[in-house]
Amino acid sequence: MTPQELRQQMMAWGQGAMALQIGFVGVSTGLFEALGERKGEGLDVAALAAAAGVDAGYTRRWADAAYAFGYLEADGDTFTLAPLGEAMRPSAPGTLMPFAVQAVLGAHMAERAAGLARTGERPGERVLGERETILPWFGPMLEASFGTFFEREVVPGVPAFAEVDARGGTALDLGCGNGWYLRRLAARMPHLRGIGLDGFGENIRQATAAADREGLGDRLQFIEGDIYAHAPLAPVDLVAMNRALHHVWDQKARVFGLIRDALRPGGLAVIWEPAWTDDRAALRDPPRRAMAFQNLNEHVQGNHFLRPDEIVAAFAAVDMPATVYSFANGAEAVVVARRPGGEG
Ligand SMILES: C[S@@+](CC[C@H](N)C(=O)[O-])C[C@H]1O[C@@H](n2cnc3c(N)ncnc32)[C@H](O)[C@@H]1O
Repeated sequence: MTPQELRQQMMAWGQGAMALQIGFVGVSTGLFEALGERKGEGLDVAALAAAAGVDAGYTRRWADAAYAFGYLEADGDTFTLAPLGEAMRPSAPGTLMPFAVQAVLGAHMAERAAGLARTGERPGERVLGERETILPWFGPMLEASFGTFFEREVVPGVPAFAEVDARGGTALDLGCGNGWYLRRLAARMPHLRGIGLDGFGENIRQATAAADREGLGDRLQFIEGDIYAHAPLAPVDLVAMNRALHHVWDQKARVFGLIRDALRPGGLAVIWEPAWTDDRAALRDPPRRAMAFQNLNEHVQGNHFLRPDEIVAAFAAVDMPATVYSFANGAEAVVVARRPGGEG
C-alpha cells in the first residue's frame, strides 16, 4: 500500500469508530428508541430530548452527529430515523446495537490495557463494571449477538439439546449473564427448569425481569453469586457455561470438579467458548481478528481464550469424555461431556 492508501484506510477505520461511538450514545440514552416510537413522524430537538429524558444541549449535538453519519434524516429541525438508525434500535429485530456496545466497551478495555501494560496488573472482572453506561448493555449485547445463532445453529447441531428436551429436569447455567440461554431453552422445552448464577447483580436483575416478562418466572431462578461459592444444589441434568469458562480457567481443577459434582450420573455438561487457535495466520480472518482483539481485553480481566482441546483435557481429568462441536467456520466451539453412570 502507498502512504496515501494507508492514510485512507486509517481514515475509514476512524470514521467507522466514530459511527459506532455515536451509535452507542443513541442506544444508551434511548434516543434511537424515542425516535423509533414516533413511527416516522419526527421530533425536533426539544421534543426528542423530552421524550428520551436527555438534556437538550446534548441531544442537539448528538442529532447533528447522528445525521452526519446517516443514522437520522432531517427536515428542517425535525429528525426521523434513517434505516441505519432504525436498525440500531435495541428493540429492532436483528438489532445492530451489539456493534456499538462492543466498540465502546472495546475502547474502555483498550484504554485500561494501555494504562496497565507497564506494570502487568490485571484487575479482573470488575473492569467490566467500571463504566456505568456500558454495564447494563453487556447482557443485551451478548443476547443480541448469540441468541438467534444459538437457536438456529447450536441447538439443532448439538444432540445433547434434544436429549435435554426429551428428559426435562433442571439446567444450571454458571455465569449466566442476563439469562438469555436459560430463557430460550425454557421457552422451547416446557419440562425444563433452570437456575442461573452470575457475579454481577445487574445481570441477575435483568435476567429475573426478563424471565417474568416472558412468563418463565415460575421455572427459572437467577441468583447473584460466585461460581465457586454457591451452595450445593440437588444434582442437575445439565450444566451450561457460555463464554464463562475462560473467566474461571485459572481455577479449572476446582471448576471441573464442581461441574461433575453438580451433575446427576448420566447428566450433561455443555460448554460454549470462542475457539482460540495457536495458528497465528488464522487470526487475520475477520471473526478471529475480533477474537484476537478481545483476547487483549480478556487479559485485562485476568482471562484468556481457550483452545477446544484444552477444555476436552480438563473434562478428561475429571473422567468425563467430551466431544467438540464446531460452528462459525471453527471460530466457536461447543464441548459436551457426560458424567459417567446413570442410564445416560
Ligand atoms: C462473557 S459473559 C457471558 C454471559 C452469558 N453466559 C452469555 O452467554 O451471555 C461471562 C459471565 O460470567 C460471569 N462470571 C465470571 N466469573 C464469575 C464467577 N466467578 N462467578 C459468577 N459469575 C462469573 C460474569 O459476570 C459474566 O456475566
